This record gives sequence, C-alpha cells and structure tokens, in this order.
Amino acid sequence: MLFDEIVLRDMTLKNRIVMAPMCMYSAGGDAAATDWHRMHYAARAIGGAGLIVQEATAVSGEGRISSRDLGIYEDAHVAGLKSIVGAVHGMGAKIGIQLAHAGRKCEADVPKIYAPSAIAFDEKSREPVSADAAYIEKTVADFRAAAARALEAGYDIVQIHAAHGYLVNEFLSPVTNRRTDSYGGAPENRVRILGEIIDAVRSVWPESKPLSVRVTAEDYEPDGNHPEDIAAMLNLVKDRGMDCVNVSSGGVTPTAPKAFPGYQIPYAEIIRRETGLPVCAGGLVTEAAMAEEAVSHGRCDAVYLGRELLRNPFFPLLASVELGADIPWPAQYERAKPRR
Ligand SMILES: Cc1cc2nc3c(=O)[nH]c(=O)nc-3n(C[C@H](O)[C@H](O)[C@H](O)COP(=O)(O)O)c2cc1C
Repeated sequence: MLFDEIVLRDMTLKNRIVMAPMCMYSAGGDAAATDWHRMHYAARAIGGAGLIVQEATAVSGEGRISSRDLGIYEDAHVAGLKSIVGAVHGMGAKIGIQLAHAGRKCEADVPKIYAPSAIAFDEKSREPVSADAAYIEKTVADFRAAAARALEAGYDIVQIHAAHGYLVNEFLSPVTNRRTDSYGGAPENRVRILGEIIDAVRSVWPESKPLSVRVTAEDYEPDGNHPEDIAAMLNLVKDRGMDCVNVSSGGVTPTAPKAFPGYQIPYAEIIRRETGLPVCAGGLVTEAAMAEEAVSHGRCDAVYLGRELLRNPFFPLLASVELGADIPWPAQYERAKPRR
C-alpha cells in the first residue's frame, strides 16, 4: 500500500510517495544552494513525502543545463547542500540527490558542450563536441567526486540521471549515439559509461546506502529505445550496485509523447518485470487513488509526483486521509487534520 514502509539497504522510507527531481533554476551564479532550495524542499518534507529527490545537480560546470542549476562539482558546494539535507531531515523525510550531466542539452555559458556524437538536439541548439576517451574518463571521475561530496552532505540515496536526453541517456540511445568505438553500437557498448559511473559512485558511496538510476524507458522514436531495450541494458549493469530504477520517458529528441495520467506506469511495469528491481513510477499522477492502485497492484514499488507536489506540498498528508491510512501529522498541524 502507498503508506507502507519500503526498505532499500539501510534506508527505510515511511511511505512510497517520492517527490520527483525538479530543477528550480534558482542557484546562485556559483551553482550553490539558496534559501529557495531549503524552504522548497523542507515544505515537501513537512507535507509528508517519504523521499524527496533533489533536482538535477551538475557534476561539472558544463554538466549544468543552465547557469542557474545547482552544482556539486566544487567542495564549496557542500555546505549549501548540507543545509538542504538538514532542513529535510529535520522535517522527517529522507532525501536523495540526482547527479546529472546535461550533455548536448547544456545551455550554460561554457566554452564547449559534449555528447557521444556531434549531433545537435535541434536546429536552434549548439553543436556538441563528440566526447573523446579522456572526456569520458573525466566525466566518470566527476560522478565519483560528486558522490563523495553527496556523502559528506548527508544524502540518503544517490540517483544517477540517465534520462531525458542528457549525457548518459545520449550514450544509451541509438538515436544520439553513433559512435563506432567501445562506447557505441551494441547495447553492451552503449551502456558501458553507465556501468563505469555506477562503479565510480559505488567506490565512494557506502554499502549501507542505496543507489538509483533514472531512465527514459521510451524514446518515442521508431529507431530509439523502448522499455525492453532499457531493461536489457539495465540487466547488464544492475549487479554493480544498483538498487532501484526511476522510470520516466522522452527528452532524447524534441518528439513529445501524448501524455495522460499514469502514461509511464506501463513502462515501469516492464522494467520491473524484466529486471526484477524495485521501480518508482509516475507521470501526471495527481490522485491518491491512482498512486495507491499502482503500488497495491504491483505495477511499481513507489510513485513519484512532480507538478502535483509543486501545486500542493501537502498532497501526502491529504492522501493519507483520503485513503484511510492512519499516519501522524506534524503536531503543529494536528488540529487541521480532517476527521473522517
Ligand atoms: C519544473 C520541472 C523541472 C524538472 N526537472 C527535472 C530534473 O531536474 N530531473 C529530472 O529527472 N526530471 C525533471 N523534471 C521531470 C519530473 O521529474 C517528472 O518526471 C515530470 O514532471 C512528470 O511528472 P509529473 O507529471 O508528476 O509532474 C522536471 C519537471 C518539471 C515540471
């Protein structure tokens, strides 16, 4: 059930409602956290989410999507991130960080942008440089250093951003990866960089803490990845220390899906069945009953909510009343709890 606990390694979530990572484009020019981040994430913790996944946080300057993204590529970033973690823990939720590299979708003010192959996202986008072996090695090392800083900041889980057409996803998809070296071509080559990143992160991220990967399960392109392709690639790297998969879709090309409530849940069901890993599913979920149905029928192990939690930080508390789950409300708000 939605309000049952879930355990991943030594992390216990009090319920299965996960706040999806959402860029706030509110970092200072130095990519450091601001008051906005502390207030914004703490509010969703007060509202009852079991896990908050902090927005895409860049592992390098050129890994930012914009010049207002959060970064975790300098030791100076740790203090601000630690203050977000402290605020969320203080309000009773667990917090993860999404470690990200924007790849060819970087619009930050940097001299060069990188991708597996030198193909621009669209006619308005900058042309990326095809990453050479040295750049791949540097990026893997950047993910390792970022994970070490995430540990220092106190996060409960790290999520590797391998979705939405950013760098790792650009390697996974045959649409964006036209390489002929050991990082391109067959699925075992396209997934190589993800395996190397998992190894690098795991070399500093403790055994006791879980590691998640967010994927685009469907490219919405005939020659692109479909859920079965992604499941097969995850199966090649899952034993290297991956604990769960967050299933999303799209973003590899400008093609937009026909979205409707729960449209990505069937992709999560396929990934769950074919990898045997716990999955977190979502996409246009705005109703408690839909979230409960997905978990209780074994379609997924947890549900993520994005925009609904922006509109309403208290969605989890209100969902618990609607679903008849007897969870404690913050003592300060106890008098506001609707009586059934
Ligand atoms: C403002 C905003 C920012 C987002 N930023 C990220 C991000 O940093 N990382 C990511 O993986 N997805 C990002 N997404 C996608 C969300 O995590 C989520 O998958 C998407 O909004 C669909 O869920 P929803 O319909 O519940 O909002 C963003 C979405 C929104 C609306």
